[in-house]
Amino acid sequence: MTIRAVVKGVGHYLPARTVPNSEFEGKVETSDEWIRARTGIERRHFAAEGETTSDLGAAAARAALADAGLEADALDAIIVATSTPDLTFPSVATMVQAKIGMTRGFAFDVQAVCAGYVYALANANALILSGQARRVLVIGAETFSRILDFTDRSTCVLFGDGAGAVVLEAVGGTGTTEDRGILSTDLNSDGSYRDLLYVDGGVSTSGTAGHLRMQGNQVFRHAVEKLAETAHTALAKVGLDGGDVDWIVPHQANIRIIEGTAKRMQVPMERVVVTVQDHGNTSAASIPLALSVGKERGQIKEGDLLVTEAIGGGLAWGSVVLRW
Ligand code: COA
Repeated sequence: MTIRAVVKGVGHYLPARTVPNSEFEGKVETSDEWIRARTGIERRHFAAEGETTSDLGAAAARAALADAGLEADALDAIIVATSTPDLTFPSVATMVQAKIGMTRGFAFDVQAVCAGYVYALANANALILSGQARRVLVIGAETFSRILDFTDRSTCVLFGDGAGAVVLEAVGGTGTTEDRGILSTDLNSDGSYRDLLYVDGGVSTSGTAGHLRMQGNQVFRHAVEKLAETAHTALAKVGLDGGDVDWIVPHQANIRIIEGTAKRMQVPMERVVVTVQDHGNTSAASIPLALSVGKERGQIKEGDLLVTEAIGGGLAWGSVVLRW
């Protein structure tokens, strides 16, 4: 019998404070009009002082567990995708484990920046298919507001804070693409592009957290091409193509990247879940946020075929095909 990692529950959390584009006007040389036109972003959420990535992750985790109708101890593992941990160590995942009252199993973080959630899903899938875990909570949680340079207009307007989570459970399938659950994954990275998107500080260099630096137009160029390619590859692995897709649930960085990728995949925008206008780029949290909001809006329904795709610093990129 084929084992599938099937979505049992989904949830999200956004910090209370909403920051509209107009808040950046006057602080840096920008305008609401420019930000909307060039990125599609209208607002984003910023964590309150003292509110940490593990707080956001734990809130999303509780929502996903409630949606699944499960207690924390029903989980075997927690994976958190994040690049903005509370502390250098321990992992955010172990902090979430304590906060939600999970007293068994194991927890760890993965770090692939904006592609983090795709990497985390692929790892959770591997744990489930290899029999090492039956239920895995996969969280994407970020507080990118903490690493923004608020004097750099080309980056500070783009990012936001938030968290989303999905409970995956091992379920027997038929081995066909009609099965619910993760059907295929595709992961890639190329470390030679390090300088396109990075943080200029860290434990073993400056000893500081540092600030995000990006050559936006260069990243943009890679994004559309690599996202369409990885989505095609993941679909082709199981004999599917863009025409089979009910929803693209893309990483939410820029509406022009989302539209360009959908066009290359020959999927109309009516079949793309878009949240970038409300969340900005929440890095590893953007896909689980979009999954949760997409379900809440009534867009994503049980049995729908989804493809997620994401790219970020590294460069690292990838995609996951799953039937909801
Ligand atoms: N307000 C006003 N002008 C701005 C601005 C802002 N917030 N940010 C940049 N500009 C200016 C630039 O300084 C530049 O001015 P110049 O021509 O006088 O030098 C001009 O706008 C064009 O800059 P460019 O970077 O070529 O614009 P763009 O159309 O590529 O848009 C991004 C900039 C950052 C929105 C876009 O490149 C992008 O989204 N890139 C991908 C970023 C991303 O998603 N990264 C994360 C991947 S996980």
